[in-house]
Amino acid sequence: MNDYSEYLEEILISEDQLQERIGELGAQISRDYEGQDLLLICILRGGVLFLTDLMRELTVPHSIDFMAVSSYGVGARQSKGQVRITLDLTTSIGGRNVLLVEDIIDSGNTIASVLELLRLRRPKSLKVCTLLDKPERRESEIPIEYRGFEIPNKFVFGYGLDLDEYFRNLRFIGVLRKDKVAEFADAH
Ligand code: PRP
Repeated sequence: MNDYSEYLEEILISEDQLQERIGELGAQISRDYEGQDLLLICILRGGVLFLTDLMRELTVPHSIDFMAVSSYGVGARQSKGQVRITLDLTTSIGGRNVLLVEDIIDSGNTIASVLELLRLRRPKSLKVCTLLDKPERRESEIPIEYRGFEIPNKFVFGYGLDLDEYFRNLRFIGVLRKDKVAEFADAH
């Protein structure tokens, strides 16, 4: 893999902007869940960086858990509303306040399916927190309680989001160069 700079058109959201906004979200979530039990669920893998920064901004006691899902079928279009759990939670969510933490909501199909699956387990509440929201691409209507940034319909990477599994470690969100888009079929 080449250096990230070869794929970078521009920095869309800087490290400072990310951290400032995550601080605001953390404060808001802390106010909303004051005095209540809270479980953060991160859907692997893109949301990991956001989760670990967000939880350090929370002042309310909370626990975390992880799950992983994969789409049925090969093409994303075939997989609408259909995901399979490949790594399940280790904790029971029945009766708990659950906040799903995602890096990006794009078509919305992943989170729509996850919400459907988790609702069956009867949590006390179930809400969504996403760092990035790309509304132009939406196919499934999603109630988003906490939103970091609304972004345009461009392919982005860094800060959890990958290009063929690389560059999740970058501290900023970058835009993929247009002439490189064809190389990365799964980019968001
Ligand atoms: C990304 C992201 C969301 C989903 C959003 O995960 O973390 O889960 O895609 O896209 P959608 O709204 O169109 O469903 P991805 O499948 O790329 O896996 P990753 O988190 O391991 O990179």
